[in-house]
Amino acid sequence: MDLFEYQAKQLFAEYGVPVPQGKVASTAAEARAIAEEFAAAGKPRVVVKAQVKTGGRGKAGGVKVAEGPEDAQAKAEQILGMDIKGHTVHRVLVEEASDIAEEYYFSFLLDRANRTFLSICSAEGGVEIEEVAVSNPDAVAKIAIDPLTGAPADVAAEIVKAGKLPGAAAEGAAEVITKLWDAFLGKDATLVEVNPLILTKDGRVVALDGKVTLDENAEFRQDLESLTFPEEGDPLEVAAKEKGLNYVKLDGEVGIIGNGAGLVMSTLDVVAYAGEAHGGVKPANFLDIGGGASAEVMANGLEIILGDPAVKSVFVNVFGGITACDAVANGIVQALELLESHGRDVSKPLVVRLDGNNAGLGREILTTRAHPAVRQVDTMDGAAAQAAELAAK
Ligand SMILES: Nc1ncnc2c1ncn2[C@@H]1O[C@H](COP(=O)(O)OP(=O)(O)OP(=O)(O)O)[C@@H](O)[C@H]1O
Ligand SMILES: [Mg+2]
Repeated sequence: MDLFEYQAKQLFAEYGVPVPQGKVASTAAEARAIAEEFAAAGKPRVVVKAQVKTGGRGKAGGVKVAEGPEDAQAKAEQILGMDIKGHTVHRVLVEEASDIAEEYYFSFLLDRANRTFLSICSAEGGVEIEEVAVSNPDAVAKIAIDPLTGAPADVAAEIVKAGKLPGAAAEGAAEVITKLWDAFLGKDATLVEVNPLILTKDGRVVALDGKVTLDENAEFRQDLESLTFPEEGDPLEVAAKEKGLNYVKLDGEVGIIGNGAGLVMSTLDVVAYAGEAHGGVKPANFLDIGGGASAEVMANGLEIILGDPAVKSVFVNVFGGITACDAVANGIVQALELLESHGRDVSKPLVVRLDGNNAGLGREILTTRAHPAVRQVDTMDGAAAQAAELAAK
């Protein structure tokens, strides 16, 4: 889960990392009021920053300096509602303008390939670090972090030195790095990035930007709820999450239900492939109903998928394992009855492919029930082709 910059900065502040003072606004009038507070405190220059979970905000015109409250309101008006790489700006961060002497880059991240944590540090920050890494790789230091040691003073000093940060920033940057590690560890983050980490003209090291990704697997011990907003995310995904379903909305027309993440992933592939023959029909979602596949879980899954106006047909792809196909078939039958009894429209065509444990029994149950929406196809490719064809109609 990604955080907004202002949330990242609140988190940094919690761990003692110096950040500019600022507040978030969702209207231009609020932005003005915040700028007025700064002006009253003798800081008329503020920066108005679009809060969107994507990079390159500055380049897109989403970060603007304002000279006083009036200007802050005008800048906020320009930025609010702006579209940055498909993200609408709902909020702006209004913060005190810093006097920047130099801009650096720093991050901690989970390095999956090397099964460790990694720190990246460079004296050439502010700009896109990916470009620096290509054009001037020596300027970007990458140092593995032993998770048992973390980043105490000596490790932090080593990182600062490898990143070739100047002497004036060395001590302050090392302190920030140690605190960022505490935040990274304490909040179960997989990324903490500060670009730019600045040296101010009066010699302080401050995190001027913040990008944080938290590990959703740590939800049981972290409060992620308070960091999410209802308007974020797809309404179908929100509804699916409430039902405890493993659902991801995609932009196609064929609803997908399968058991097991691997099977569902390959189902998305075969449907996309089959859809090419039908004008580019694509999967409408990812949904893994997992092992159990009870009637209730099946009903919940079908309800979400059938409630998606983009869905034109549904492909239920089940490979019976511990949960045998007859149990899944009963689940489908009961799910349809359940939804019908709740007055739901279940007329969209349902292509069902059952294979594996007790496939014969499962198919028989569906044949006997003969629900008008259900048609069975024995192979995965055949079922995908039929679901794609039905969706294209
Ligand atoms: N509070 C501030 N005071 C002065 N200058 C600022 C402030 N915040 C940002 N800037 C300037 O604006 C530049 C861009 O800001 P920032 O890094 O937050 O956005 P970005 O890099 O464009 O966005 P992203 O990191 O999402 O791509 C900074 O490098 C810095 O020069
Ligand atoms: Mg930045």
